Amino acid sequence: MDRDRSNVVEEVFETVARTAPEIRAALPGRRTETAGKNPSGELRLAADDYADDLLEGRLGAIDGVGQYASEETAEAVDTGEGLSIAVDPLDGSSNLKPNNTMGTIVGIYDAPMPAAGHELVGAAYVLYGPITTMAAAADGEVTEYVVTDGEREAVREDLTLPDEPSVYGFGGRVPDWIDSFDEYAREIECDESLRLRYGGSMIGDVNQVLTYGGVFAYPALESAPEGKLRLQFEGNPVGYIVETAGGRSSDGERSLLEVEPDALHDRVPVHVGSTELIDRLEDALN
Ligand code: F6P
Repeated sequence: MDRDRSNVVEEVFETVARTAPEIRAALPGRRTETAGKNPSGELRLAADDYADDLLEGRLGAIDGVGQYASEETAEAVDTGEGLSIAVDPLDGSSNLKPNNTMGTIVGIYDAPMPAAGHELVGAAYVLYGPITTMAAAADGEVTEYVVTDGEREAVREDLTLPDEPSVYGFGGRVPDWIDSFDEYAREIECDESLRLRYGGSMIGDVNQVLTYGGVFAYPALESAPEGKLRLQFEGNPVGYIVETAGGRSSDGERSLLEVEPDALHDRVPVHVGSTELIDRLEDALN
């Protein structure tokens, strides 16, 4: 790769911020289901397809990007030489029908995909909430931006998780949780300093944790020991962002960034948040 790596990472962030308002503006007319399913068997909405096409065209065209992979398609696409970009174009798109939060997630790996999280050199997510924000991590720092008309304005620099955690949110059906996670969840629920914040869109839920401190989990389930979320597209990028902000990520035993992938669409149990709460989780599960 000829270009300086950090310039490429910066251009990826810039491109995602430029594209986010267009993705958002296109949502109202694209709430319908298409005939297709993604490689994980989930229904695709017209909005998923639109966001994916836009991001593939723009991120794949960047000089220094060599591979583009999307949660919506089976294979990675070769786009030249350089860094590999993993994208979840619209995370939580089942939230589009009831008009709740959604996100766009991007992981930038300095290795061919599927790649482990320790190969990440940057990661970002856009949150489509009442306003559009973007959290981007690279070079040991997380910055939060407000995005308007394709411009991004930094509102929190060198962001770190608050010292006193105050929120939690756990996904999956409660009767499907494994016993050890269930016991951990009960302890967390009984802690008077913590409040439930769960919206069913990972980026919305993780951003609560990044803002207030706490823990988000989509754990291993009795019916799905690997959980639901995808390592390459979801687990690794949010793990990288939360760890860069001074928190921890875990698959239940180790940092998500240490999990070696077998395939592009591998799933993984995801637990991210304040260090003490993830330490306690690992103690409870092991
Ligand atoms: O992976 C997509 C996603 O919508 C996440 O954003 C969210 O955490 C999870 O799935 C919710 O899944 P479910 O409603 O099936 O528990």
